[in-house]
Amino acid sequence: MRDHGTFLLNGERHEIRDMSPTTTLLNYLREDQKLTGTKEGCAEGDCGACTVVVSELVDGAVQHRAVNACIQFLPMLEGKSVTTVERLRGPGGTLHPCQQALVDTHGSQCGFCTPGFAMSLFAAYEDRQGKGLDRDTANDVLAGNLCRCTGYGPIITAAETMGDLPAPQWGEDRAARELRALEALCHTDTVKVASTDQQFFAPATLGEFAELFAEFPDATIVAGATDVGLWVTKRHMHLKTIIYTGRVQGFAHIAVSDNTLTIGAGATYSDAIQTLAEHFPDLGELVRRIGSTQVRNAGTIGGNIANGSPIGDCPPALIALNATLVLRTGDAQRRIPLEDFFVDYGVQDRKPGEFVEAIEVPLLENPDQFRCYKLTKRFDQDISAVCGCFHVTVDDGQVSSARIAYGGMAATPKRASAVEAALVGKAWTMETCEAALSKFSEDFSPMTDMRASSDYRMRSAQNLLIKYFVEGTEPLSTTRLVGRGSTIAGGANHA
Ligand SMILES: Cc1cc2nc3c(=O)[nH]c(=O)nc-3n(C[C@H](O)[C@H](O)[C@H](O)COP(=O)(O)OP(=O)(O)OC[C@H]3O[C@@H](n4cnc5c(N)ncnc54)[C@H](O)[C@@H]3O)c2cc1C
Ligand code: FES
Ligand code: FES
Repeated sequence: MRDHGTFLLNGERHEIRDMSPTTTLLNYLREDQKLTGTKEGCAEGDCGACTVVVSELVDGAVQHRAVNACIQFLPMLEGKSVTTVERLRGPGGTLHPCQQALVDTHGSQCGFCTPGFAMSLFAAYEDRQGKGLDRDTANDVLAGNLCRCTGYGPIITAAETMGDLPAPQWGEDRAARELRALEALCHTDTVKVASTDQQFFAPATLGEFAELFAEFPDATIVAGATDVGLWVTKRHMHLKTIIYTGRVQGFAHIAVSDNTLTIGAGATYSDAIQTLAEHFPDLGELVRRIGSTQVRNAGTIGGNIANGSPIGDCPPALIALNATLVLRTGDAQRRIPLEDFFVDYGVQDRKPGEFVEAIEVPLLENPDQFRCYKLTKRFDQDISAVCGCFHVTVDDGQVSSARIAYGGMAATPKRASAVEAALVGKAWTMETCEAALSKFSEDFSPMTDMRASSDYRMRSAQNLLIKYFVEGTEPLSTTRLVGRGSTIAGGANHA
């Protein structure tokens, strides 16, 4: 076991030792390294002012992703490379095309959020080998960067035009150097970073992960830290022992067999989105509306389930798809229907030392029968007030099976069992759906909170059943947002 972590910061090796392992990357940059170009706006992953680019080796190639530095714990960067805004300029102070485009279009206004915008654009530029972005992609890439003066127009123009500018003048091939440096950081030892009363483990194998969790069953598992990061920055929780999933080989794997999609619990939304969109177009689009690009680059589907939140977006969709949860303790696996995992508010069917290993989702014969609807106050980067997911199978005009699940309607993600029972065996008609509406009150008594009133939730949940029926039976009716295309292949235009 190594007693320190190592990562690259703007091309230089840094060691992480003898410090609180919940030190955020943002605090390290600003307070230790005086790299104050990266700003702190919200410290909870919402505003994007702290955006940096994290690069890592994936199948031998370097992958660049924008993340929020405010909710990344420093040891999570083991073996990775961090680029901050200070490193964008070239020799002689020449600006990177993403910066030059912001200057040319007057896209920099207050200056506070501009470094975050530049870093999101830089990640997209690197990802697309120097190409500019179309408008939908620009909207998507920048949805996690808030401009408080609302000057998005010029910023989006910068995103569209940066690819027209000369490539950066970085001298010796920086990409090749980064690749070599990242290869040199590869190893399979478990990394431990400890202070006097905190310890952070980053194991590299599933076996070691399971052993560590068996030894420290009270440890906090951290995957993307898009929830756990906020426990520290907002709730000021002191986490004693942390075990990190991000280095575990195979934990992020996504595999499609003849009839099942298996998603490793450590797969981020960004890792999974393309495959999800291919097999379940609406789920791909639902995931595209989770948080922002930065949040999706870090947050995992396993974390979205394990946190037990009643308003997480993946659980209702995966319950409607009849997914199975694979849990693991040591060498022993346990499989349960996903819906049984959510026992009550804050209570999940998870034993001490047990963790989420994977999710298995049966593939559909007719993917079009599966639909998801996410209702939020803002289209992008907002948590669902209600999320309704439907999979109704109709044979010869009759409903042969129905799986309908909602988030935001109860203390857990929950099936609408009484509504389903009112549909099965009946003719699939508007009359049947309307007759089933009265059954919603048997399934749910939703709460009123800042996102929606109880009445709004109940009525919109009912309306979503009608919408699902209309979309399936009147394909030419306009039921989804017009003018906002999907940016993922296979993804549906969503509402
Ligand atoms: C700005 C912002 C926007 C967001 N928007 C959305 C949204 O639109 N929709 C939505 O659903 N969520 C949203 N979230 C919430 C969050 O992104 C998701 O819940 C995310 O999936 C959590 O995954 P993670 O990997 O970051 O989990 P972490 O924060 O690392 O962990 C979350 C919880 O899961 C546990 N855990 C993680 N992995 C495992 C495992 N393998 N086994 C057992 N326990 C485990 C952790 O111990 C912790 O209790 C948002 C968050 C932020 C900060
Ligand atoms: S400071 Fe707002 S997202 Fe990090
Ligand atoms: S550029 Fe900072 S508020 Fe708009």
